[in-house]
Amino acid sequence: MKILVTGGTGYIGSHTCVQLIEKGWQPVIIDSLVNSKISVLDRIQQITGTRPTFIEGDVRNADLLQKVLTEHAIEAVIHFAGLKSVGESVNLPLKYYDNNVHGSVVLIQAMKQCHVKTLVFSSSATVYGDASEPPWNEQVPTAPTNPYGQSKLMVDQIMADVSISDAAWSMTSLRYFNPVGAHPSGLMGEDPQGVPNNLMPFLAQVAVGRREALQVFGNDYPTPDGTGVRDYIHVTDLASGHVAALGYAHGRSGHFIFNLGSGQGISVLQMHHAFSAACGRALPFVLSPRRPGDIAAYWADPEHAQRTFNWEAKKSIDDMCQDTWRWQSQNPNGYP
Ligand code: NAD
Ligand code: UD1
Repeated sequence: MKILVTGGTGYIGSHTCVQLIEKGWQPVIIDSLVNSKISVLDRIQQITGTRPTFIEGDVRNADLLQKVLTEHAIEAVIHFAGLKSVGESVNLPLKYYDNNVHGSVVLIQAMKQCHVKTLVFSSSATVYGDASEPPWNEQVPTAPTNPYGQSKLMVDQIMADVSISDAAWSMTSLRYFNPVGAHPSGLMGEDPQGVPNNLMPFLAQVAVGRREALQVFGNDYPTPDGTGVRDYIHVTDLASGHVAALGYAHGRSGHFIFNLGSGQGISVLQMHHAFSAACGRALPFVLSPRRPGDIAAYWADPEHAQRTFNWEAKKSIDDMCQDTWRWQSQNPNGYP
């Protein structure tokens, strides 16, 4: 199967391309490189022995999309391309709606034009409201609190509406919890530009000496150790979730929504402890005030994916920390 992978040189897209190739499928990547580097292709080739076809371009370019879908005889699309900084989305909402929502509409229109009707989309647990007790299943009411989350929910809704309009569509929204970790080879991993917003890449940069100390945002939450609890999922488990979901959905009519998470809640201090063990020294941290907008604790109920296409996250917190440390220590400044 030939699969168009938008955003395929990004963090989750690149790990998914590796597994698509290992499955015998052919990824064709389109990426604007707005948040990734072309050298990712060398790493995919080093790991798999295959260099995926790469087209530099923007998903908002309808003509380019139609050309790629047709010329490469694409059968399905996995749509990772998007912007993902929550803070930036609050300051620049139009940038997020244009890139994430308009970009998805242009993509779906091009797919319709070219009769490609299988789409797997990167949605997020951030679409859920925080009123429900964890674990969160797919029925938890949605109530995103920022433009980034809204943009994900809008695309989910567009996919639902389009799938109702024409039974030939197979639309799948995968709602990721907190993706972390790196390829076990140490060749691929997360490479954020600037100061990392998220816990795991920040810890990795402390470990490698690029940052002084982790700030623990709040230790007075109603959680066992007072720090925030999240559902971290290894990026290779997430990648295998895409392969399994696509295998299930291709040829099936409708709009499907699946949580992809481990089902386990881990606190900031537990993660700090595991990372310190992985890199062999107690990493410095300071207790800081709560980060505005954060909630105390949530994790996934991932059973729907397990029952439907027999997928579950297999890797432990120690795997996540060891693999991240291998990637960060072998590539202290990220991709060349
Ligand atoms: P990433 O930034 O590493 O990858 C996204 C890729 O899309 C980048 O390579 C970027 O250059 C490309 N891109 C962005 N806008 C584009 C456009 N208009 N046209 C073409 N290419 C474009 O991010 P990631 O962590 O791999 O996330 C992938 C997807 O998963 C995103 O849609 C993100 O919102 C979603 N998601 C991520 C997380 C997370 O924590 N990493 C959680 C939930 C959902
Ligand atoms: C963030 C995004 C969310 C996205 C998710 C995916 C925000 C507000 N939310 O969620 O939309 O879907 O990433 O990965 O950005 N922490 C620290 N110190 C740090 C960084 C984080 O203590 O330097 C704590 C946070 O308070 C939180 C936990 O670590 O309790 C995880 O934070 P983070 O990695 O930023 O993820 P989320 O906030 O869950």
